[in-house]
Amino acid sequence: MKSRVLIGLAVVGVILVGAGIVVMFGQSQPLWSDDEMAMLRSLSIDSLPALPPDPSNRYGDDPAAARLGEKLFFDVRFSSNGQVSCGTCHKPELDFQDGTPLGHGVSTTQRRTMSIVGTAYSPWLFWDGRKDSQWAQALGPLESAVEHGGNRTFYAHLVDQFYRADYEAIFGPMPNISLLPLNAGPVADPDAKAAWETMTSEDQEAVTRIYANMGKAIAAYERLIMPGQARFDAYVQALNASKTDQAASILTSDEQAGLRLFIGKANCTQCHNGPLFTDNHFHNTGVPSVATLPEDTGRAQGALQVQHDEFNCLSQYSDAKPEDCAELQYMIAEGDELIRQFKPPSLRNVVGRGPYMHAGQFTTLEEVIAHYSTAPAAPVGHSEIHPLNLSQEEIWQLIAFLGTLSGPVNAEQQ
Ligand code: HEC
Ligand code: HEC
Repeated sequence: MKSRVLIGLAVVGVILVGAGIVVMFGQSQPLWSDDEMAMLRSLSIDSLPALPPDPSNRYGDDPAAARLGEKLFFDVRFSSNGQVSCGTCHKPELDFQDGTPLGHGVSTTQRRTMSIVGTAYSPWLFWDGRKDSQWAQALGPLESAVEHGGNRTFYAHLVDQFYRADYEAIFGPMPNISLLPLNAGPVADPDAKAAWETMTSEDQEAVTRIYANMGKAIAAYERLIMPGQARFDAYVQALNASKTDQAASILTSDEQAGLRLFIGKANCTQCHNGPLFTDNHFHNTGVPSVATLPEDTGRAQGALQVQHDEFNCLSQYSDAKPEDCAELQYMIAEGDELIRQFKPPSLRNVVGRGPYMHAGQFTTLEEVIAHYSTAPAAPVGHSEIHPLNLSQEEIWQLIAFLGTLSGPVNAEQQ
């Protein structure tokens, strides 16, 4: 009797183990828990909200402004040597960056060129967030001695000469600036600076208004530059539709393992989260400094600069009401934790976009992930990351996963 019961139990056991094996191997994809599925959905491009208006730029969604902005973006006449446009460093075919450690305009910058894709969603612009809108940002490189090398009166004359009809159709009548100096602005060049100081404040304001409107047109164009669907997004769509077999054919097992690390053990989503894979905030991740460059304190200097920026959300050139400027009004402006904090770039299209980090410190993604794995102490301030001690296989799996974030970039006119 006893032995029959035992045999019976053993048979049941074998059946159960067999069923378990069928479940394990019949399952063609790793199982994601409800929490993990919620995380995957939040990273998918389908979670990107409709682009909110920029209250500081009332022309931001004007198609005519975007058309003018696109022309200005690629016009090399807007530079001191007639050879540099925004597109020189932000190349559409390279995810709107340039593939070099530092940007090269009329001279060389001290940081790496950032991609522009999806930055309409970013409340802060630049690695250190020293600008709070796309239009205010665009006015930085134009007057930078190492990027376009020009000044605002020079640019206002060019708009008057080559784009007057386009300009007036959007912004209204162009003031008469024909008698103003050819080169004047609050820039490093001593002659242009001296000429600027001889101008009346009314003339300075009229020129600065034209200059700010150039930025607003460029921003209207940049607002259209958005990432498209990547393989990762198709994977999440298939999982959402319970098409698990189809999902398994979209990502390889290494890519799925990399995704599991990314949202789990490696904790990348602490900072690279949301559909653009950035929290648009600032972090010190212990990226090494570059001996040949001056010390870079990142957000510590950027926060002070944006507060005093001539074109910030609260400025006279902004179209926003003070209550629209909450980001600026309530930002953290001081504190030791700001030292060497930088903005995490979006990880969409990150493969093939090296070198990486704010001064191109790492040539390959392998070096990037090795940095996260060892988490060295920050050169200045405190690093927020902790050693992950990843195996070589896990490093490759994370890189494989990052490859699933590549997709087309849309910059079409509407
Ligand atoms: C000489 C190369 C160069 C030129 C020319 C240039 N940029 Fe940049 N761009 C850079 C660099 C370098 C950075 C990062 C600089 C920093 O953080 O200090 C950057 C950052 C940006 C960002 C910030 C992106 C983000 O995620 O915060 C935007 C937007 C941008 N540039 C737009 C423009 C526009 C518009 C123009 C033309 C008016 C322009 N750039 C001209 C090199 C260039
Ligand atoms: C504590 C916040 C934080 C965490 C956690 C984090 N990152 Fe980053 N990431 C950043 C910041 C900030 C930068 C830019 C740093 C700089 O340039 O100095 C960055 C840059 C990168 C870059 C370079 C992108 C480019 O265009 O230069 C890659 C790739 C990257 N991170 C991937 C990852 C991966 C993979 C993980 C998980 C292993 C991860 N990050 C975890 C904040 C973080």
